[in-house]
Amino acid sequence: MKVLFVTSETATLYKRGGLADVSYALPVALSNAGINVSLVMPFYEGIAVKDVTCVGQLAIDFDRRRELVFIFRTLLPHSHVRVYLLRHPLLNAYDDEHIAARFAFFSKAVAQLSLYSEGILGGPYDIIHCNDWHTALIPLLIGETSKVGYRERETIQSRKSKTILTVHNLLYQGETGFSITLKLGFPKSIFHPFMTPLGKAVRLMTEGFEYADLVTTVSPTYAKEIAGGKHGKRVVEVFKKRNDQIVGILNGLDTKLWDPSTDRSLPIHYDAKTVTPAKAKLKIQLQQALRLPVSQVPLFGFVGRLEPLQKGLDLIARAVAKLPPEEYQLVVLGTGHKRVVRQYEKLTELHHNISFVHTFDERLARRIYAGSDIMLVPSKFEPCGLTQMIAMRYGTLPLVRKTGGLADTVTDGKTGFVFGSYTSTALLEKMNQAITLYREKPTHFAAMMAAAMRKDFSWQHQVKEYIGLYRKLLKSS
Ligand code: GLC
Repeated sequence: MKVLFVTSETATLYKRGGLADVSYALPVALSNAGINVSLVMPFYEGIAVKDVTCVGQLAIDFDRRRELVFIFRTLLPHSHVRVYLLRHPLLNAYDDEHIAARFAFFSKAVAQLSLYSEGILGGPYDIIHCNDWHTALIPLLIGETSKVGYRERETIQSRKSKTILTVHNLLYQGETGFSITLKLGFPKSIFHPFMTPLGKAVRLMTEGFEYADLVTTVSPTYAKEIAGGKHGKRVVEVFKKRNDQIVGILNGLDTKLWDPSTDRSLPIHYDAKTVTPAKAKLKIQLQQALRLPVSQVPLFGFVGRLEPLQKGLDLIARAVAKLPPEEYQLVVLGTGHKRVVRQYEKLTELHHNISFVHTFDERLARRIYAGSDIMLVPSKFEPCGLTQMIAMRYGTLPLVRKTGGLADTVTDGKTGFVFGSYTSTALLEKMNQAITLYREKPTHFAAMMAAAMRKDFSWQHQVKEYIGLYRKLLKSS
């Protein structure tokens, strides 16, 4: 079975968020399980790779121009996964108002390569696995090319290759003006537009829902939430029309990359047996590094994107304002939205027990995972979430809201703390519970830490579910 994994980012080459972690670990796990898997993504400026070879070029018609895309091949670091990188000036920038068009162009290039120049891309492939809205147009582009028959050639469709679209976050859907259909040069009738105050628009993610052979998401609970209309009614309608369901497969964790017994960012290594004394020392070192008072009070951590719509940072800010400062400490590490940055800068000015580090620093992130007592993940919604899994692996108890993948991975009172309603009062109550347990029942707290560390979230388990789905798809006609 040959699989082409299509993504906008992959850890070790280019990382923006959790998608990159999964887009690294899943192909590697598939490859380790004996699947022949290749990955394709844009060759952004700034991606530094050794041993990269140009394997071909391709002309793509886009926005009434003929564009030449160069295809490079390399290996995903520390793996046997082949990587194809597509180089073109349109695929250099990431953050601007043209992002939807950039990825429509990328998708067209991948589709065209798969159809007509599959050799360059290492094909033909049995499965094309797309991820998030960036690559969600590919099923449409592949299917439509074959339908309108641009050329008299056998297409992937005719060979029964299958497409999968995995949703990592429904918050971002690649909404863009209807003129994208003109840019792509495809018939308007195959898109599913809707009206906005600015005129007709399409969502690239929705086109994926319409055309992919199978749609999955990254946890069973998020899949249920989507099916129940929690993340938009339109999605539910599409699935009804398809007479199909979105399949939820929990993400795994790369247990080699995240391992407190070998982590090079840590001055002390530990496992479930040595966690208590090791963490005590790591906590002191962390407090010193952050210029927090060295103290026995529980240290809460937050590591992640400062995304106001998703991550629950407003709840944290309101909850801590009501906690006596001598009872806890908090460290927040991350970059993101300006308003959130300002809010946390203010908080640190007011409270000497709160540290805010406004940067993305992987080494510090790892020291926070190891040196904190409790990791806060109070997300409004969370498709899967990796933070809580990393925290558990490092013996730090996650305090999460019962939503999406957080609900699927943390058990209240056993491996962490779980609260329900999205309010600062509910969060505050849970934080108080955690503080009391930490202070009054240290043995119980330590037992929970060890239990969390023993949970197995490795991809070894999860990857079997994907392989099962691929097989099922290939059997279906
Ligand atoms: C997105 C989601 C996150 C998920 C990750 C990987 O970043 O917000 O919940 O874990 O993708 O699938």
